[in-house]
Amino acid sequence: AKSPMRVVVTGAAGQISYSLLALIARGDVFGRDQPVDLVMLDLPFAKDALEGVVMELQDCAFPSLKSVTATCDQTEAFTDIDVAVLVGAFPRKPGMERNDMLAKNAEIFKAQGALLNTVAKKTVKVLVVGNPANTNCLIAQKYAPTIPKENFSALTRLDQNRATAQIAAKAGVTSDKVSQITIWGNHSATQYPDAWHGKVNKDGAEVAASAAVNDDAWLKSDFITTVQKRGAAVLAARKLSSAMSAAKAIGDHLHDWIVGSEGRWVSMAITSDGNKYGVPEGLIYSFPVTCEAGVWTVVNGLEISEFSREKLTVTAEELSGEAKYAAEFLEKASA
Ligand code: NAI
Repeated sequence: AKSPMRVVVTGAAGQISYSLLALIARGDVFGRDQPVDLVMLDLPFAKDALEGVVMELQDCAFPSLKSVTATCDQTEAFTDIDVAVLVGAFPRKPGMERNDMLAKNAEIFKAQGALLNTVAKKTVKVLVVGNPANTNCLIAQKYAPTIPKENFSALTRLDQNRATAQIAAKAGVTSDKVSQITIWGNHSATQYPDAWHGKVNKDGAEVAASAAVNDDAWLKSDFITTVQKRGAAVLAARKLSSAMSAAKAIGDHLHDWIVGSEGRWVSMAITSDGNKYGVPEGLIYSFPVTCEAGVWTVVNGLEISEFSREKLTVTAEELSGEAKYAAEFLEKASA
């Protein structure tokens, strides 16, 4: 039998976690034969809600769920952790400046990075979901120097799944027939959903997504903006942000990274160090990757058109700006 995997989810009393925890506990993410010790962290004010979720997890009677721990103590939560899913973050309140939100979260992810550095396993895999996800991930990575940089990632899989669904609808196929759709850059409105290397399996034949869609103007405009603004559209309609689809995407990301993507290529925001696409180093930037047993490899050698190059640059510039602001804020705060 496999030894248990110790998985922490932060923001565990929140709405994404309410969908996510069951996916993990049921074995949909790491496999039904992989026992899981589940650790749930939230803030003290959410303690009662957290206890309620623990009761529900017990009541699900999941066979591969070995233990459940709910805590408001970060040190307890991160000790000996194999996988850390950092969903909890400081939300942007109405009227709040983006930079103030960046600063609040820089403090949170600095503390969590430093703590992971001291108490988590050195092999820990970290997925940052809480926004601004890429920059929060960069901060956590920076304050965890004894954990390999490659072990830090941020979620852009929801954007990839959204883009895949748009292509599928336009091509008149189900989403499983669409592959190789990439998200480049930041999980924000500057992200670049790229279907130019995509494939669609139509009537048994594999064709280029652009051929299946047969509308380049759409691929260059409405497709991109629909994906970029999808989160806002869900929020406007539901009066709550995407949660079911975010949880599904987190499960996809963790499964493909830690179990393997079986040759499929997927999008992950990861360190830009050493990339061959001309993206500045020192960022957490979304690239197309394949994964095997916890190791991602960037899909290299893709042709980048002038149209795409411009988009890759815009989102890199936004990330550089965020990184600079967060670093300056943390320096000031510690001076
Ligand atoms: P939510 O507000 O329902 O839940 C967040 C939970 O995190 C709350 O229970 C809160 O008490 C907790 N929390 C806040 N700070 C914490 C800390 N320092 N330590 C532990 N827990 C903490 O929010 P929801 O809808 O679950 O979303 C969570 C985050 O995910 C948000 O930042 C949201 O913007 C982000 N998100 C990211 C996506 C992505 O694709 N990267 C997609 C959708 C949401």
